[in-house]
Amino acid sequence: MSHAHPRISKAVIPAAGLGTRFLPATKATPKEMLPVVDKPAIQYVVEEAVSAGLEDVLMVTGRNKRPLEDHFDRNYELESALASKGDADRLAKVQESSDLAMIHYVRQGDPRGLGHAVLCAAPHVGDEPFAVLLGDDLIDPRDPLLQRMVEVQETYGGSVIALMEVAPEQIHLYGCAAVAPTGDSDVVQVTGLVEKPDAADAPSNYAIIGRYVLDPHIFEILRTTRPGRGNEIQLTDALQQLVQADESAGAEGGPVHGVVFKGRRYDTGDRGDYLRAIVRLACEREDLGPDFRTWLQRYVAEEM
Ligand code: G1P
Repeated sequence: MSHAHPRISKAVIPAAGLGTRFLPATKATPKEMLPVVDKPAIQYVVEEAVSAGLEDVLMVTGRNKRPLEDHFDRNYELESALASKGDADRLAKVQESSDLAMIHYVRQGDPRGLGHAVLCAAPHVGDEPFAVLLGDDLIDPRDPLLQRMVEVQETYGGSVIALMEVAPEQIHLYGCAAVAPTGDSDVVQVTGLVEKPDAADAPSNYAIIGRYVLDPHIFEILRTTRPGRGNEIQLTDALQQLVQADESAGAEGGPVHGVVFKGRRYDTGDRGDYLRAIVRLACEREDLGPDFRTWLQRYVAEEM
């Protein structure tokens, strides 16, 4: 029997947020279902997990999230209507999301923060490293970040987070990492973490973007992590404890490394970012892009 490290196969997608920044659109529709061009935001995220080889996906949901389950399930009525019309293209689009991955659901109940959402995944994940993907960050499939993070976790062990350099005036919107170089130019050792610091207190301009590959010891830590910023149980605080435990005693679960991402990332977290993400992605689409770009250039020239 091989004792090699188990291949990472599970992805956790927290999707229990209320989406209040998008009201009234999110009154009866989960924010994860809002379309980015013509696909719900959450489908991009599941596709990303699958292309990194993670085909077991756990969504941590809450009340009003039934449309998520329906989206990744079969829709026989629609499928047979399209089949009888001979509309193979649209039929394929309907079937794509239900054939993507093995998707499981767990409810968060009390929304007590990202750390708490991740803790809800413990019974499903068990004792293996796993990935966490946050739905507000879309990563361009041409710049495969998660795959690289899985490789880095296999090389260095412990946990791996995704980092991106941001302007100092933006750092208060993110978890922030103090880092030291490693022998790999795109990998840093994380020496400290703080959730959404004021610019003046930030240890660097390295922001955590919503991708993590975590050692299962994180669950033990999350069980005792006190509420932090915003009175929520913060994943960043639990990771900071992993960093400290590793530094002082080489404890199990550490170290924490960061993959520095320089690729294309689309933020859909608030209305302005969401609009920018749609315009950028629409411009790049082969089917819609050429016409849309021509219109956009004319619109900008005439209206601005
Ligand atoms: C969460 C994390 C934060 C991270 C961010 C990335 O914050 O707590 O550390 O930088 O995601 O998108 P949220 O944006 O959910 O408030």
